[in-house]
Amino acid sequence: MASEKRIDEVTGAETTGHVWDGDLMELNKPLPRWWLYTFYACIVWAFGYWLVYPAWPMLNGYTEGLFGYSQRGEVAKDVASAKAAQDKYRAAIAAMPIADIKKNPELFEFARDGGAAIFGDNCAPCHGRGAQGAIGYPNLNDDDWLWGGDLESIQKTITHGARSGDPETHDTAMPRFGLDKILEPAQISDLANYVRSLSHLDVDAAAASRGGALFADNCAACHGTDSKGNTDVGAPNLTDAIWLYGSSQQAVVRSIETGRGGMMPAWNGRVDPVDIKMVALYVHSLGGGKPEPKKDDEGEAEHKKEGHEAPK
Ligand code: HEC
Ligand code: HEC
Repeated sequence: MASEKRIDEVTGAETTGHVWDGDLMELNKPLPRWWLYTFYACIVWAFGYWLVYPAWPMLNGYTEGLFGYSQRGEVAKDVASAKAAQDKYRAAIAAMPIADIKKNPELFEFARDGGAAIFGDNCAPCHGRGAQGAIGYPNLNDDDWLWGGDLESIQKTITHGARSGDPETHDTAMPRFGLDKILEPAQISDLANYVRSLSHLDVDAAAASRGGALFADNCAACHGTDSKGNTDVGAPNLTDAIWLYGSSQQAVVRSIETGRGGMMPAWNGRVDPVDIKMVALYVHSLGGGKPEPKKDDEGEAEHKKEGHEAPK
């Protein structure tokens, strides 16, 4: 009986010989061999895997496996090797004056790219992703500078900020001509007309000419007799149609009334000095960066070439 094959009449398939209720039979359909062998192979593979790789959680930690592999370990190794590669550059940047870094293409590229990342993390909230600025926050792409656009000036501004409370910060501020009642509202309005005329905006000509006289007495000391500003005191160029606080009559009146007094934080102590140098190189590279001012002993002719520097 055991050797006898039982065939199901309906399907023509072999049955197991189990019978229920007199005539219900179970078909004998074994798994295909290829499937079964793959299944066994997987079991063997799994045992191997448990043995060599981290697998089972335990009360303290987990089984680490014979290979001692850990994804975290891999990342730590990558980070360490990237850092070792960077350390070489960072040490060189730390040791060099910023202007010399600019002259070394490999170092400069490293610093500028790193500086872009530092900018994104720290500076973009105020100056914008592309450093394009906003009302009250200067655009760092143009060559219009409050506090100077050569590398060392930019480095100094970033390190100590402007009106930041840092002991070495830039801290000259424009008087609050309106709030402190230094000038009458009518005078301020005349001055605003004059200042706007410098950027060729539509103004009341008579008011602008009265404003011109007031400007010489009250404003030229900082903004210059040519109104082109002075980076020693952070006074903007008023002739270039670039406005930090807006160009409408109302905005300019407000600037003169309040003196504005924008605050740029000091980064000294917040990011390390190498990062400050890198981000300064990045900002300088954005397109508005100015050449280094020449030292006195390098000759008068060199000075003349820099006619586009803000007047001192
Ligand atoms: C909290 C907002 C804020 C943050 C953050 C900030 N800045 Fe500024 N930054 C300002 C303001 C406001 C000024 C204009 C100061 C003034 O009116 O004199 C300024 C001015 C500057 C200037 C001088 C521009 C000029 O025309 O001379 C530079 C350069 C500069 N920032 C770079 C940076 C860098 C680099 C960072 C990031 C490390 C940064 N800033 C982060 C607000 C900010
Ligand atoms: C003590 C120096 C000083 C004097 C004097 C001074 N300013 Fe200013 N002025 C500044 C500084 C610094 C700023 C930039 C303020 C800031 O960055 O927040 C400024 C900004 C301005 C702005 C804003 C420009 C913009 O781009 O939005 C105007 C307008 C202006 N001054 C007009 C005047 C007029 C008009 C007078 C004379 C009544 C005057 N200033 C006198 C230093 C001065």
